[in-house]
Amino acid sequence: MIIAVDGPAASGKGTLASGLSRHYGLPHLDTGLLYRAVGWAVRDAVDTPEFEAKAIAAAEGLDAAHLTDTATLTSADAGVLASKVAVIEKVRQALFAFQRDFAGQPGGAVLDGRDIGTVIAPDADVKLFIQTDSKARMERRARQLEARGQVVDRYALYHQIEERDARDMANPHGGFYKAADAHLLDTTLLDIEAALRAAIAIVDGTMARKAGQQP
Ligand code: C5P
Repeated sequence: MIIAVDGPAASGKGTLASGLSRHYGLPHLDTGLLYRAVGWAVRDAVDTPEFEAKAIAAAEGLDAAHLTDTATLTSADAGVLASKVAVIEKVRQALFAFQRDFAGQPGGAVLDGRDIGTVIAPDADVKLFIQTDSKARMERRARQLEARGQVVDRYALYHQIEERDARDMANPHGGFYKAADAHLLDTTLLDIEAALRAAIAIVDGTMARKAGQQP
């Protein structure tokens, strides 16, 4: 079974995807980490004429060893860098095969990102599109960062999230929209446990319906 979980920055899709991965015993790939690793690798070239070429080379040379420093990669700065390399079509192409192979492994997988249900795994068995109010997303991300001992400027964080959303939604190569067969899950008023219960109900319901349709 392939489960695609897409949604905007700080919507909790990663937490949901990892909860689904544990619940169904499926491997999980946080695809944002790939873009973050590429962005981080070229952080010194931002706003230079070489940025695009360097980002493409970094994406082509990316391997699992680049994904281990999660403390750095999950920082807000790495998120902004990720959204800057994510608009480069050849970066997306270079990262496609790794994600596609992960989705296609025997037994299936859970992947979260922006374009899983639309580009990476349009054939996914269940697609979730997570929606959460921007202020709630800012507050959740602020608490995560504070729990790591960081001092948070909520005003700046809110604008950073909005700016990243705008860039992601306008990305002509991004595939960031709700697939026609995706289930919308609004988690604004749900805590993690409630959101996971709702997601599991959608997955179980979809799989049961599909099983019922089979001859
Ligand atoms: O999901 P996360 O916030 O870690 O993603 C970081 C950035 O990487 C996003 O803002 C987006 O620009 C890019 N991304 C993408 N496609 C994906 C996953 C992430 O364009 N499948």
